[in-house]
Amino acid sequence: MVTIGHKDTKTGEMTSELEMPNFGLGVYLMKEPGECKSAVSHAINSGYRLIDTAMAYGNEEEVGQAIRESDVPREEIFVVTKLRRPHATGYEEVLRRCRESMENLGIGPIDLYLVHAPPEDITAREPVWKAMEQCLERGWVRSIGVSNYGNHHLEDMLNYARIMPAVNQIEINPWLQRPSLISATIESGATPMAYSPLARGHKVRDPSLVQIAEILGCTPAQVAIKWCIDSGAITIPKSSNPDRIVENFHSQNIDITPVMEQLQSMDENYVSGWDPTVEI
Ligand SMILES: NC(=O)c1ccc[n+]([C@@H]2O[C@H](COP(=O)([O-])OP(=O)(O)OC[C@H]3O[C@@H](n4cnc5c(N)ncnc54)[C@H](OP(=O)(O)O)[C@@H]3O)[C@@H](O)[C@H]2O)c1
Repeated sequence: MVTIGHKDTKTGEMTSELEMPNFGLGVYLMKEPGECKSAVSHAINSGYRLIDTAMAYGNEEEVGQAIRESDVPREEIFVVTKLRRPHATGYEEVLRRCRESMENLGIGPIDLYLVHAPPEDITAREPVWKAMEQCLERGWVRSIGVSNYGNHHLEDMLNYARIMPAVNQIEINPWLQRPSLISATIESGATPMAYSPLARGHKVRDPSLVQIAEILGCTPAQVAIKWCIDSGAITIPKSSNPDRIVENFHSQNIDITPVMEQLQSMDENYVSGWDPTVEI
């Protein structure tokens, strides 16, 4: 578990802190009917307590169903969802979309609500964040954060935010290590959250990774996932495959300290999908 919270921009103090698991299941690209529900159910039964979804993934309903039908109490499962980028247009729309996500999930307050990416309309960034702060104030969500925010986006928030994000969810993995953005994220008061820890599966057969996994006696995916966790990021690999869901869960128990130097040298600035952190 990790403690997340919001830095007050006036006092510098941390507010509304809460505990969040530092490992969970991502559910992007689970579009077949029932696929997401069955992956989330299997993950919860295997010990996962954090689920990362988004309105853009079209599966908030299935995430909610799986949680409601599970034997694990709702309050023991931490749910993250996100405001779609095309919906990040202004104050009222954010409030409306937050309610919509709550209805889709049907599990009460959202544990962490993220702005999926910096709003494309720069003038919308302030009202969007003010509405996020309002969602928190109204108790619709237990914490708020951002995703795909670069150093300059975070810095700019100091001009308009009352409280800073609790989390910045960005792509982080051994091939995209981002030391500067991780430092800026921590400096802002936010905890880094690593999406695409396997570079969307592009890198699980990377020969250097395979060799390291052989030395450690685990799988290549487990090494990459554990590197993200050990770098201090909340890590959310996606899998729809029951065996890989369990395999990824056990990455938490792998000791990668003997191969840390080799892993640090694998950085190649490889972006597996999109990268709004570099946009204006
Ligand atoms: N905020 C954002 O902009 C953003 C962007 C991207 C992702 N995300 C979040 O981060 C989560 C994870 O990222 P991601 O889905 O992009 O990619 P990822 O977790 O890096 O990789 C997922 C891919 O790797 C495969 N895989 C999973 N476990 C494996 C294993 N043990 N061995 C071999 N292959 C394995 C999966 O296939 P199978 O399903 O067949 O196992 C899938 O094709 C997403 O689901 C989403 O929640 C957020």
